[in-house]
Amino acid sequence: MNLTEGFGFLLKCASFLMLPIHFCQPMWPDTMLILGIETSCDETGVALFDTEQGLLGHALFSQIAMHADYGGVVPELASRDHVRKLLPLCDQVLADAGRSRTDIEGIAYTAGPGLVGALMVGGAVAHALGFALGIPVLGVHHMEGHLLAPMLEDNPPAFPFVALLVSGGHTQLVRVDGIGAYEMLGESVDDAAGEAFDKTAKMLGLDYPGGPRVAALAEKGTEGRYRFPRPMTDRPGLDFSFSGLKTFTLNTVNAARDSGGLDDQTRADIALAFEAAVVDTLTIKCRRALEQTGCKRLVIAGGVSANKRLRAGLEKMTGKLKAKVFYARPEFCTDNGAMIAYAGAQRMKAGQQDGERIVAVARWPMSTLPPISEPR
Ligand code: KG4
Ligand code: ZN
Repeated sequence: MNLTEGFGFLLKCASFLMLPIHFCQPMWPDTMLILGIETSCDETGVALFDTEQGLLGHALFSQIAMHADYGGVVPELASRDHVRKLLPLCDQVLADAGRSRTDIEGIAYTAGPGLVGALMVGGAVAHALGFALGIPVLGVHHMEGHLLAPMLEDNPPAFPFVALLVSGGHTQLVRVDGIGAYEMLGESVDDAAGEAFDKTAKMLGLDYPGGPRVAALAEKGTEGRYRFPRPMTDRPGLDFSFSGLKTFTLNTVNAARDSGGLDDQTRADIALAFEAAVVDTLTIKCRRALEQTGCKRLVIAGGVSANKRLRAGLEKMTGKLKAKVFYARPEFCTDNGAMIAYAGAQRMKAGQQDGERIVAVARWPMSTLPPISEPR
């Protein structure tokens, strides 16, 4: 987007409201209607969350088809598509919920981590709308959004709990004592779990994004034909490493190909062996984290938490420990606007809001977030 296009885009945001721009200071009502905007990567997500009535509606546009030809996300194409899709999605969510633009009382957008150009689109729309409506705007941490997504379900987990965050860019174990009270227990020293799924998919000739496709192929696999390593489980600690497992998978694929045996069944058997290794590794570390902290609640969040084998493995493990595992419905495991609206609503109710600047950061450690009680 060049400067002229950018300026036109902002004007379009303001005219979306057809309202005079005003400068009033926000009030902090007991209940708030929050518009949530997610544009950190290849999904444009929008949601409306009412702090009293809960989620009123949400919509998502996935760019997967557009990026599939390139085997991964092309950042510039992602930003341009967010520009095209975001305002129509806002309109759609408002109309479906029977609300109008002037009903919105606060706007939460993903401020990072993510692709900066893509984040800027969500941030620019959020700030332009917020400025025109005279309502508070807050940049939300994408991983905090994932972490809190299970709170949108019936019977949400109480604090404290251990959270396993498993997405395309992160694999982290966090002790959560409240919103913003995060203690990092362990994380991946190299690839994230989702990234390992995506790379394995490529090796097996599957399309992007690989996680769900590897999982589907693994369902046709033969148990026990291959056994892949469970990295870093033979030593103490809660860190992860998935790059060695990726190399092991590549070597197995190449050996099968060289011997002329990389048929459909072999590909399925490799997918199953890889998935089982990731699930076992994550399960072992989650068990250790629960034992170490004494917590009886485990939350899993992020794209990989949609994985059925992972959910089953964690259910079994937590059952033995007399603990409980919580997760969001599959559509709220991957990127979505609802988790951003929810996380933003909790922080805005506590009086937190952005200054005049749009926040868009590629890297942002979650441990630097302020607790909910402290306005930033
Ligand atoms: O949380 P997310 O939508 O985006 C990021 O914040 O990264 O996670 C996307 C990741 C991708 O790597 C995708 O392959 C993986 O989650 N994923 C899965 C499944 N669904 C999505 N991995 C394994 N099994 C799944 N069912
Ligand atoms: Zn995500």
